[in-house]
Amino acid sequence: MGKDVIIACDFATAADTYGFLDQFTEEKPYVKIGMELFYAEGPDIVRQLKKRGHKIFLDLKLHDIPNTVKKAMTSLSKLDVDMTNLHAAGTVAMMEAAVEGLTRPDGSRPLLIAVTQLTSTDQQRMEDDLLIHEPLEKVVMHYAGNAKKAGLDGVVCSPLEAASVHQTCGDGFLTVTPGVRFADSKADDQARVTTPAKAKEIGSDYIVVGRPITQAEDPVAAYRRCVAEFVD
Ligand code: C5P
Repeated sequence: MGKDVIIACDFATAADTYGFLDQFTEEKPYVKIGMELFYAEGPDIVRQLKKRGHKIFLDLKLHDIPNTVKKAMTSLSKLDVDMTNLHAAGTVAMMEAAVEGLTRPDGSRPLLIAVTQLTSTDQQRMEDDLLIHEPLEKVVMHYAGNAKKAGLDGVVCSPLEAASVHQTCGDGFLTVTPGVRFADSKADDQARVTTPAKAKEIGSDYIVVGRPITQAEDPVAAYRRCVAEFVD
């Protein structure tokens, strides 16, 4: 499975996104499109970026009853994205339905990965709001195991959890990891960060990098630096 750097295109409009990506004249980075851009621009943003030759991780984090998620995934399968995701909290039945819905008539499908617990959910909030009293780390590993059981390809997790996920679910189970920063740059609002080189060492399969590239003075150089540390 090829390691890659995915740029989080957290822009509000298609124009901003194209303006940013136009700076890349020699490479076609793998990009992540999230809810902000997708809800603003609709599925056409995906079609246009595919036409421009980018691989796409469509980060919509589906979570609903199995039948609804299955049908939504069928719609997404027609968009020809390379990777998409859902919330493991939707249960194994929901994840199995998602795999079924995402699989095209010819048997192919985009990679499907699960969000375990959001990084914005800490132990206290999980206990007080969700009434889950197990340690957070145990919950994350249990949800990762459920995702594997349902036939998914991997999870979104902190690079610091990538090694444990591989231990629990096997090396072929993908870890897609945000929270990446260069050693000499600021952390922004990310609490637990690692460098691209460290993420490679721990065993992340894909790193998702936003502001260290999108807000850099020279985004192409920052992207190349990520690739040099993580992939090459
Ligand atoms: O700018 P930055 O590199 O922090 O962006 C990271 C991207 O990964 C953002 O799109 C953010 O929403 C996403 N993400 C994250 N932590 C998670 C899941 C997704 O930072 N647990």
